[in-house]
Amino acid sequence: MSLEKIREEYLKLVKEVKDEKELYDLRVKFLGKKGALTDIMKGARDLSPEERPSFGKLVNEVKTFINNSLEEKRAELAKAALELKLASEEIDVTLPSRKVSLGGVNPLNKIIEEIEEIFISMGYSVAEGPEVETDKFNFEMLNLPKDHPARDMQDSFYITNELLMRTQTSPVQAREMLKANGEGPVKIICPGKVFRRDNDDATHSHQFTQIEGLVVDKNITFSDLKGTLEHFIKAVFGENKKIRLRPSFFPFTEPSVEVDVSWGNEDDEENIKWLEILGAGMVHPNVLKMAGFDPEVYSGFAFGMGPERVAMLKYGISDIRSFYTNDVRFLQQFNSDRND
Ligand code: PHE
Repeated sequence: MSLEKIREEYLKLVKEVKDEKELYDLRVKFLGKKGALTDIMKGARDLSPEERPSFGKLVNEVKTFINNSLEEKRAELAKAALELKLASEEIDVTLPSRKVSLGGVNPLNKIIEEIEEIFISMGYSVAEGPEVETDKFNFEMLNLPKDHPARDMQDSFYITNELLMRTQTSPVQAREMLKANGEGPVKIICPGKVFRRDNDDATHSHQFTQIEGLVVDKNITFSDLKGTLEHFIKAVFGENKKIRLRPSFFPFTEPSVEVDVSWGNEDDEENIKWLEILGAGMVHPNVLKMAGFDPEVYSGFAFGMGPERVAMLKYGISDIRSFYTNDVRFLQQFNSDRND
């Protein structure tokens, strides 16, 4: 092939190149070791010494021309590829945005926060303790020695003989009193998960939450407990609510009461309905003593409630399992401000 032919052939082929790969093949075809220009240079051997330099020069010119042209083509391809990419990635800023759908705060967490706020406003602080508890704190420090029959009131998940999933948040009482080193006041609420061996149904769950309250100081009386609970119930359920105390038994309080809240028809004294809402009492002297407080100097009250029960009454929820199954339709009902 003559030089001129090579050039024409190149110009014809370069127009058809569509991508980097084809461009590379074209370079090999003309400039490679076995390419057309290398080939033609070999022909120089047959030329006379006088003809050789000018022939070499001509070949070099074509080589430079092809090289430059390939470079231009490469730039052209890159530009076209970039434009294609930009076009395909174009963003229409005028399109409406996609809706972000939110879940909702679990009503259980809502009620726990609400209860915390009420007690914080009365000067309580919030304390927490371990969910895996020792037998000592879950029972013994609460006046429930080993083989005390009242242990049967709370069917427990034992891990070892001495370790269990706490059955109540009361052990946090004992822990906080010990921290106070026999000196009041102690004024805390302790929210947290508790665990009992129960078969799950609409009103039972093997895992649920409790909020424990404890006040220890000089001159704390039963009427302080009653006033506190009355204030709390009205703050959660409404000013028209009444409370009723019934004698009860807890090993760690003496006397002990169960507290009911009036429901539905507060104005009709005769036909008032009562629903049980929490357990409470005056801290048992043994409990004070074991936790390092002198029962002759200090007294205290404690109460414990299930936020699930509070939320079920307040929001009219009929199945305790709704709190744990995380159905977003259930959760969103309590977050009307956040519904999307
Ligand atoms: N811990 C008790 C229970 O789970 C509730 C309670 C707490 C009762 C504090 C009285 C005082 O049954």
